Amino acid sequence: MTPSTSVPIACTTAALADIDADLLLVPWFEDEGPEAFGDLDRATGGEVGRALASKEFTARPFDLFVTRVTDARWKAGRLGVCGAGRRERYDISLARHIAAAAGLAARQRRAGHMAFLLRTGIESSTGRPDALGTLQAVGEGLTLAEFDSGSYKTERTSPDGVPRWTIAVREGTDGSVALPAAEAAVARGRLLGDCSNLARNLSNEPGNTLTPREFAGRAGAIAASGGVGVDVLDERQMEALGMGLILGVARGSSEPPRLLAFRHEPPGVTTGPVLGLVGKGVTFDSGGISIKPAEGMERMKDDMAGGAAVACAMLAIARLGAPIRVIGVVPTVENMPGGRAVRPGDVLRSAEGKTVEVINTDAEGRLILGDGLWYARRLGATHLVDVATLTGAIVVALGKLTSGIFGTPEGWVDQVRRVANRAGDRVWPMPLFDEYRELLNSDIADFANTGGRPAGAATAAMFLKEFTGGLPWAHLDIAGTAWAEEGKPYLPKGPSGVAVRTLAELAFTSESWPT
Ligand code: BES
Ligand code: MN
Ligand code: ZN
Repeated sequence: MTPSTSVPIACTTAALADIDADLLLVPWFEDEGPEAFGDLDRATGGEVGRALASKEFTARPFDLFVTRVTDARWKAGRLGVCGAGRRERYDISLARHIAAAAGLAARQRRAGHMAFLLRTGIESSTGRPDALGTLQAVGEGLTLAEFDSGSYKTERTSPDGVPRWTIAVREGTDGSVALPAAEAAVARGRLLGDCSNLARNLSNEPGNTLTPREFAGRAGAIAASGGVGVDVLDERQMEALGMGLILGVARGSSEPPRLLAFRHEPPGVTTGPVLGLVGKGVTFDSGGISIKPAEGMERMKDDMAGGAAVACAMLAIARLGAPIRVIGVVPTVENMPGGRAVRPGDVLRSAEGKTVEVINTDAEGRLILGDGLWYARRLGATHLVDVATLTGAIVVALGKLTSGIFGTPEGWVDQVRRVANRAGDRVWPMPLFDEYRELLNSDIADFANTGGRPAGAATAAMFLKEFTGGLPWAHLDIAGTAWAEEGKPYLPKGPSGVAVRTLAELAFTSESWPT
């Protein structure tokens, strides 16, 4: 499904009884009794009240109870209540998750049409109800529920189709919204969800089908479908630019590297900030000569999740008409231990001019991003954000729920952090003390590509900083968040699409950027 083909999510202000859907889903707060929503309980023959009384349904987040509608005056076939937890803890992120969980449940139950009742979330920065923000998040959540990860199964066990979605907006209550504004917010969420799912599809693709050339072709086509300018550099063009870091990593593979460069240039915009997005595009990371252990190596097919996020965010940025210029750069390589592979001890020269001693060939992401950051600057970026499945160390530090954010100056990192948290990509700030730089000292070159085990995520970020030319720069380490190891009610096992919405939304916030 591409954004141009997905069916719009409908909005309705009809009364619950008048909504004609296979499954009518109502998020339910813990303080709500059977009398909430008028005769809703009666329409189910008292089943909702009975489930509440017996604690079969507790209204804790994602708790689900589905029953038949028995009142002939109600148009829906079945009614579901989905736990929304404690009212005072409900916010836009939880609203997004509840919508996704409800959407997944509707698919499992083979519903052809699910209607979902909007409950207004609180905007964390103002503490006020934010109906439009929540509507967008619900649009995102329902769309995220459409993602399917078993694309190579010859016998489908999961439902083929996805339900048609309707969002019930109760005008005047829960913070009132006009229908056209509601529809616009939902459409924005739909588009951002679609773009997240495109990135998830790319991350899910095996290394044998998604080679660097194939990735460049598909990611380029995705962005181009929205009118984004796309250039793909081959190894000769990278040679001419002196991109020794990308070419060095690529040498161990028989698959040649590529470099994707995206341009969003709104007509008439020739001044002002230029956002530069840089994504790691390692289509498979074997570790190279410093080869990884076999256990879990299959997961390294998603080592291009950052690059996919940049490509799919570029599509969203173009489709939503971001008011500023945006550049995307995605170096893509396969990290393999072939006979011509870069060796530990080799020295590579970056396009920036700085030399790097390769201590560990498995620290390849920072190498290709070094040349990528330089290229984004060369194309005119004034504010940089890079996204990369960069280090196992960030998974140790923050686990699977939170990406690490590094960078400088604080104002820029803070800006990216706020946008990310609102977009549902949880991030947490990590330190970049100058002293970390010493850990990268090399006897032979300007610096080394690894700094040992201590502060492994920070030394990786410190390496990247060498290539940012002093521009405002934020680095998102998504090694823990790009892939869900175990399913959650709102997120099945597999690629998460992390950072797509953050990067896209960031392009709409330039009036509050530091200069
Ligand atoms: N792609 C990996 C990082 C990674 C690890 C992503 C686990 C997702 C899950 C990266 O290229 C890598 O191998 N990093 C090394 C760096 C080390 C050699 C300094 C690591 O984290 O072990
Ligand atoms: Mn690696
Ligand atoms: Zn890697």
